[in-house]
Amino acid sequence: MSRTPSTSDVLVIGGGVIGLVTAWRAAQRGLRTAVADPEPGGGAARVAAGMLAAVTELHYGEETLLGLNLASARRYPDFVAELAEITGQDVGYRACGTLAVALDADDRAHLRELHALQARCGLASEWLTGRECRRLEPMLAPGVRGGLRVDGDHQVDPRRLAAALVAACERAGVVFHRSAAERLTVAGDRARGALLADGTEAAADQVVLAAGSRSGRLAGVPADVLPPVRPVKGQVLRLRVPPAYAPFLSRTVRAVVRGSHVYLVPRADGELVVGATSEELGWDTTVTAGGVYELLRDAHELVPGITELPLTETRAGLRPGSPDNAPLLGPSALPGLHLATGHYRNGVLLTPVTGDVMAEALTTGTLPDEARPFTALRFSPAHLEHA
Ligand code: GLY
Repeated sequence: MSRTPSTSDVLVIGGGVIGLVTAWRAAQRGLRTAVADPEPGGGAARVAAGMLAAVTELHYGEETLLGLNLASARRYPDFVAELAEITGQDVGYRACGTLAVALDADDRAHLRELHALQARCGLASEWLTGRECRRLEPMLAPGVRGGLRVDGDHQVDPRRLAAALVAACERAGVVFHRSAAERLTVAGDRARGALLADGTEAAADQVVLAAGSRSGRLAGVPADVLPPVRPVKGQVLRLRVPPAYAPFLSRTVRAVVRGSHVYLVPRADGELVVGATSEELGWDTTVTAGGVYELLRDAHELVPGITELPLTETRAGLRPGSPDNAPLLGPSALPGLHLATGHYRNGVLLTPVTGDVMAEALTTGTLPDEARPFTALRFSPAHLEHA
């Protein structure tokens, strides 16, 4: 195979929303930037519902991650306005808020605990009775026992976001190699680029590994540098709300039903996204009858009227899970190699802040303060020995 050389300041491996935003922000800072991906704008964001759920997806022990999630949520309005101005594309950002509801006494107790945790963290959320929930969202099941109204958790359309990021990258002069990275090139104990599947030798002063769930298995990365990222499967359904049924839901509605999360995300254009399963099944992306059944069954318990809607799409994607559910950002233990991966359930939410943080790391060599807890080094053997 002929090997074509190509050189840049930064090579980003992976053209999902995290890789794209990193490339865009790096190029805006004057770095000659390239992205390697056979299908830029693909990845987990093609499946994701796009909830910006910093408050309703808060978990015990994740208060540090909450800070980064909130920082990114705050940036969203300016971020989408900048993208719209540069590309002319609307990414479907909708400041609609979220309603998390309980269907039985166990769910209600769980939601009360979440409410208490949110209050301890100083977050705005309001407890509503079942009747108040149904007044807000009349399509909810009569059995809803109460809920949390969170007006600050919004949504964006991840497919439109990815398409706009591709366009923004192109405008900023980012070069796209429409080919997968097969092996990291390491010379003189430093990352120097990557060999791509089409034979291109993509040389770069700095490399960013932003390949989502696949980041943990790129050939050529030393074993003690490979990020501990694993695939966590999510199956997601798309339905369509015919104009006669609109407005079906006015905000994101979610619940935990028998221990599983289910959410319904209504877009302004009539799409209704129902997600998501969470399955540790390796690289499997099969849409299963069981997954679709469970999502429809749980969504139907919340909003019985969904059975009337056309089902337009079923898909599965892979979240990049990390050991502490938080992203790995910035310089790795291998000089010249940065990580931007492990965003798990929050990739779309964390897109704006990741772009800013990675551009800073690529231009100064260090992470800004807000991202220091998420250093890519925190799982490296040397760091763990001294911890
Ligand atoms: N943040 C939603 C999900 O990962 O399913």
